Amino acid sequence: MAQGRIVSGYRPTGRLHLGHLHGNLARMIELQNEVECFFFVADWHALTTDYQDPSMLRTYTDEMVLDWLAAGLDPEKAVIYLQSDLREVAEFQLYLSMITPLGWLERVPSFKEQLEQLQGRELSTQGFLGYPVLQTADIAIVLGERVPVGEDQLPHLELAREIVRRFNYLYGETLKEPEAVLSKYPRIPGTDGRKMSKSYNNYISLSDSPDEIRKKIMLMITDPARRTRKDAGDPEKSSVYQLHKIYSGDRLEEIAENCRTAGWGCVDCKKLLSERVIEALEPFRERRQNLETQPRLARDILAGGHAKVEPIAAGVLEEVRIKMSID
Ligand code: TRP
Repeated sequence: MAQGRIVSGYRPTGRLHLGHLHGNLARMIELQNEVECFFFVADWHALTTDYQDPSMLRTYTDEMVLDWLAAGLDPEKAVIYLQSDLREVAEFQLYLSMITPLGWLERVPSFKEQLEQLQGRELSTQGFLGYPVLQTADIAIVLGERVPVGEDQLPHLELAREIVRRFNYLYGETLKEPEAVLSKYPRIPGTDGRKMSKSYNNYISLSDSPDEIRKKIMLMITDPARRTRKDAGDPEKSSVYQLHKIYSGDRLEEIAENCRTAGWGCVDCKKLLSERVIEALEPFRERRQNLETQPRLARDILAGGHAKVEPIAAGVLEEVRIKMSID
């Protein structure tokens, strides 16, 4: 097996969408065949923003595991577990919080952005500010070296490296500096042209029905220069074309040409994309439906994963405690 442990986590926020799949999950599925992989459901991270109503956490956690499996993650290859089962992470993040300057946390761009975007929630909390410290603990508790993530996570990874460096500087070489692994498509546009995201409500779920997929794609943003059927466009400015790059590689030149020359209308282009996406997601939908008939499956997989990761985490935490004289 190749060197350098892989670790990544997803917040359980509902069904996975194309942004997850192409922005990151596809890469995780490849990596599980090559390297030792640790993938977990980040339920504590979900609490940092959704603590006022956590009633859906367990449901979303199970759904995330089933979506992962249906997409191709394999518990025989990757260790799949629940963050909150791994109590070592909580103790570890306490130690890391001691050495993390406030200024580093306040500087993280997503901290300020989320504060603005998630208005109406009280997010001046220690837990929310400490989000990246917890994320660093997730990674370093298994000495993770490579972290497949979407582009939006790069500042968190940068901070994780700084915290690890500071730990190693203060107490001696112990933890590994993690680096991000980006997929071929680190930024998937949603139906409105912004990054595909649950919070923007601009996503196509992996489990959407063919009709839902058609409806959503019909509403997608294309190049605004194409106001009428006769106006030519620039494919690069169209979100539809960005998805064609993933789903219609064999006809990409033809699609681009018909956009540039107004040979096709945007509706033609969208119809083709809909059929491609529907066809590509068909096997996922089928597997997902099969998995749903096994109500205990998600819990069993998380328990099995926990049994594998726990001894590793306990070993790293022991080392950390010794280094910080808490032994
Ligand atoms: N912050 C990540 C996200 O929102 C989730 C996450 C939590 C994570 N811990 C992690 C990702 C550790 C990679 C490694 O998507």
